[in-house]
Amino acid sequence: MNIELTEEQKMIRDAARDFAQNELLPGVIERDDTETFPHEQVKKLGELGFLGMMVNPKYGGAGLDSVSYVLAMEEISKVDASASVVMSVNNSLVCWGLENFGSEEQKQKYLVPLAKGEIIGAFCLSEPEAGSDATSQHTIAEDKGDHYLLNGTKNWITNGNTASVYLVMAQTDVSKGHKGINALIIEKGMEGFTIGPKEHKLGIRGSDTHSLMFSDVKVPKANRIGEDGFGFKFAMKTLTGGRIGIAAQALGIASGAYELSLKYSKERKAFGKEISKHQAIQFKLADMATQIEAARLLCLKAAWLKDNGKDYSLASSMAKLFSSKVAMDTTIEAVQVHGGYGYVKEFHVERLMRDAKITQIYEGTSEVQKIVISRTLLK
Ligand code: CAA
Repeated sequence: MNIELTEEQKMIRDAARDFAQNELLPGVIERDDTETFPHEQVKKLGELGFLGMMVNPKYGGAGLDSVSYVLAMEEISKVDASASVVMSVNNSLVCWGLENFGSEEQKQKYLVPLAKGEIIGAFCLSEPEAGSDATSQHTIAEDKGDHYLLNGTKNWITNGNTASVYLVMAQTDVSKGHKGINALIIEKGMEGFTIGPKEHKLGIRGSDTHSLMFSDVKVPKANRIGEDGFGFKFAMKTLTGGRIGIAAQALGIASGAYELSLKYSKERKAFGKEISKHQAIQFKLADMATQIEAARLLCLKAAWLKDNGKDYSLASSMAKLFSSKVAMDTTIEAVQVHGGYGYVKEFHVERLMRDAKITQIYEGTSEVQKIVISRTLLK
C-alpha cells in the first residue's frame, strides 16, 4: 500500500476541510441542540460532488477513489458527524449498491440524481427485532407476479424523512432463510408507505432517524435489485464498504476532538503555565495522536484494498472496530483535557463524545465486527 497521497487526494481532503470549516462549523452547535437537519449544507455537499464521490461520472458521480472518500469523510466528521452520516449512507450504501448491482434502468432513474446530490437515499435493513441478527427479517415482500406486496416496519433509518429513495430489504420466501430476502427500491410517496416520528438521539442529532411503515405497498418487479433472493448478499456486500465510511467518520470525530484538545492545551493555563506543559496532558495528547494515526492507517488500508480490487471485508471490519473505539476513547479524553469547559457546548468536545458512540453501533455493532473478523481468522 502506498501511504503517500496523490495531489488529487490532497486536493479533495483540503476541499472537504474548507467546506467543513466554512459551511458546517457555523451553526453546528445550534443544529445539534435543536435537532435540525443540515438541509442547505447537504445541498452544497451534493453540488460539490461529495454525495456521489465514487460513482462513475457517466452516472453523475465524481469518479473518485475510496481513499479520497475516507479523507473527505474524516474532514467533514471532524466538524459535523450529522452531515457526514448523510454523506456516508448516500455514498457507500445507496449509490455504491445501485451502481454495482442495479439494472441500467435503475441507474438512470435513481443513481444519477442520487450521485448528483439532487435527492438523498436511505438504506433500510434494521427492524424492531432484526438489528445485528439481520437475516431475521420480518418485513415481507409477497411475490404477486408482476409486483411485490410490501408489509412491515423498519427501524433507525438514517435520512428516514429526508430521503426520496429507499433501499428496503424484505423476506419473500421464509423457507429459504437469507436466500429468500430481496432488496427493493421504494420511492417516497408510494401508496401505503408512511414515515414514523423522528427519533430523539444521544448524538448525531442533526441527522434524521425514523422508523418506516409499509402497508400493502405495491412495488413493481422492476424495482428489485439483482436476482430473486439476492437481497441479503446485497445488504452484506454494501455494508462491507459502508463500514469503511463509518470507520472514517469515527476517525474524523477522534481527530476533531484531538485537534481541539491540542489547541486548547496551548491556551489554557493552570498552576502558572499552559496545561500543555504538564506531563499529565502531554501523555493524553501522545496517546490520542498515536491511536488516531493507527486508525487512519487501518481506514486507508481498507480503502486501498477496495480501490485495488482486493478482498476488503476483514480490513473494513477491523477499521470500523478500531476507529470507533478510538473515537470513543479520544473524545472522553478530550472532554477531560478541557475540564469544565469540555462539559459545555461551546467547546464542541461534548458533542463529539456523544456523536462517537453511534459509530460503535450502526452499520454493525463492534460485536458484529468481531464476528466478521474472527470468522475470517478461523476460516
Ligand atoms: N459479503 C458477501 N456475502 C456475505 C457477507 C459479505 N460481507 N457476509 C455474509 N455473507 C453471506 C454469507 O457468505 C452467507 O452466504 P451463503 O449462505 O451463500 O454462504 C450469507 O451471507 C449469510 O451469512 P452468515 O451465515 O454469515 O449470516 P449470519 O446470520 O451469521 O450474520 C452477520 C452475519 C455478520 C452478523 C450479519 O448479519 C451482519 O452483518 N449483521 C449486522 C447488520 C448491520 O450491519 N446492520 C446495520 C444496519 S444499516 C445502518 O446502520 C445504516 C445506517 O442507517 C447508518
